[in-house]
Amino acid sequence: MNKKKLYITTPIYYVNDVPHIGHAYTTIAADVLARFRRQQGYEVFFLTGTDEHGQKVEQAAQKRGEAPIALADRMSKHFSDLWEKLNISNNDFIRTTQKRHILASQTLFNTLYQKGDIYKSEYEDWYCTPCETYWTQTQFEHERDCPSCGRPTEKLKEESYFFRLSKYQQLLLDYIKSNPNFILPESRRNEVVSFIEGGLRDLSISRTSFRWGVQAPIDDKHIIYVWLDALTNYLTAAGYPDDMGRLDTLWPADVHFLAKDILRFHAVYWPAFLFSAGIKPPQQIVAHGWWTVEGQKMSKSLGNVVNPHDIIDKYGVDALRYFLLREVPFGYDGDFSLAAFIGRFNADLANDLGNLVSRSLSMMQKYYNGVIPVPCDEQGVTEGLSKVFKQVISRLPKLYDTVCFNKILIEIWEAVSAVNKYIEDMAPWILNKDELQKDKLAAVMYNIVEAIRIIGALIWPFMPDAADKIWEQLGIEVSIEGVEFEQVVSWGGLDSGLRVNKGKALFPRVEA
Ligand code: MSP
Repeated sequence: MNKKKLYITTPIYYVNDVPHIGHAYTTIAADVLARFRRQQGYEVFFLTGTDEHGQKVEQAAQKRGEAPIALADRMSKHFSDLWEKLNISNNDFIRTTQKRHILASQTLFNTLYQKGDIYKSEYEDWYCTPCETYWTQTQFEHERDCPSCGRPTEKLKEESYFFRLSKYQQLLLDYIKSNPNFILPESRRNEVVSFIEGGLRDLSISRTSFRWGVQAPIDDKHIIYVWLDALTNYLTAAGYPDDMGRLDTLWPADVHFLAKDILRFHAVYWPAFLFSAGIKPPQQIVAHGWWTVEGQKMSKSLGNVVNPHDIIDKYGVDALRYFLLREVPFGYDGDFSLAAFIGRFNADLANDLGNLVSRSLSMMQKYYNGVIPVPCDEQGVTEGLSKVFKQVISRLPKLYDTVCFNKILIEIWEAVSAVNKYIEDMAPWILNKDELQKDKLAAVMYNIVEAIRIIGALIWPFMPDAADKIWEQLGIEVSIEGVEFEQVVSWGGLDSGLRVNKGKALFPRVEA
């Protein structure tokens, strides 16, 4: 049977800085969805990468006295290394300096040109170099500071090629309105609609003021504007333009993950370029909110940028993955504070989950020498617990469809709490003292480890390491990834006779 394909992307990150928790957040979120869809049986193609052209990179390299490509090589590796450490399951890592991508950018530019959607003119406006964005007077809120990053802009005038964005205004509006799931969450969709309704101006898509970029195929004085170059990466990795057969199977992309800062580029410019090229727009764009740190904007000058490596080295990969997705409803802004992180670590991970696993396996060792018993058919021992699991599990797919990651974790923790309560209610330590209760003890202990097995499968997209360890400790030899979701979560799947091996604590408590 041919698996259904699913194409998921993150933004490609600029190489002028090392990755921080903001970049990690988007990438982890995309990874969680990619992993869950694989569990469901999809053939997922998950793409991330780095955006390496533009004036900022050229200037940063100049300052350091090195070639832009040397800077890009070094910085790009920071991202790919971090993703490896974070267990990101991407299938490809694209760099805009790769040959395949330069060809794709030039081909797309040519296609828009041949379509008659590109013309030469002169561009003059207020330019923000760090954001590589021109702004008009009417867009300023404070003086002439960049509405995106707040830094001062400067007036620039240059010869430029323009894309007829204005021509696509109505088509874009119609598309967004007739595809209610195109932009999530809804509040962000409304922002995009008002932006378009405010009127679209043609877009300058080439530069002559610097050299570090992809040369425009129709005029070697011009470099393709970094956003047209960057957005094309989603096509490049799918095979455009050399392998149109592969593109046919992968395109349109199913979900582009990003944050609100670059929503306009993805929800307005990108579909307009694609309309012009006769290529379908992506299915869905998911824009999340912005992380601050201890209540403040993360910035190098404030020195408060949270380096993911520090957190991972101290608390583990899974704790970071869990915290970022649990703490803030996806789509909203959130704040990273060490106190909140440690609070969640101790309460949710060390206490609720970690203790559950370790005390259950201890009991299994003590009462059954570690061998999972055959559950006798005991009245009234199983139903209550398995029902909670069924209900929780039935709510998950819809929550994944709407990328409500924090709600998914809340649901899973409902199941975790149910098992903890079950243990208290059933009190296996009392059953163990009574010969007449032997059958009941077997049923109860089986149910406890069965519940833990399912919890392992449910947390796997979020915490693959901990999940795999849980299964290992239960003595299960197949990998979670290898079993389809429906099957893996159905009650009763755990084999009696397996020998559990209690390992180290999954999440040892940390001091505040
Ligand atoms: N290179 C462009 C994207 C091109 S995509 C075709 C770019 N790069 S970036 O390095 O600035 O990354 C921006 C993205 O990083 C945001 O959209 C978001 O996904 C993530 N984040 C960066 N800082 C963030 C926070 N403080 N909070 C949340 N996400 C953040 O834009």
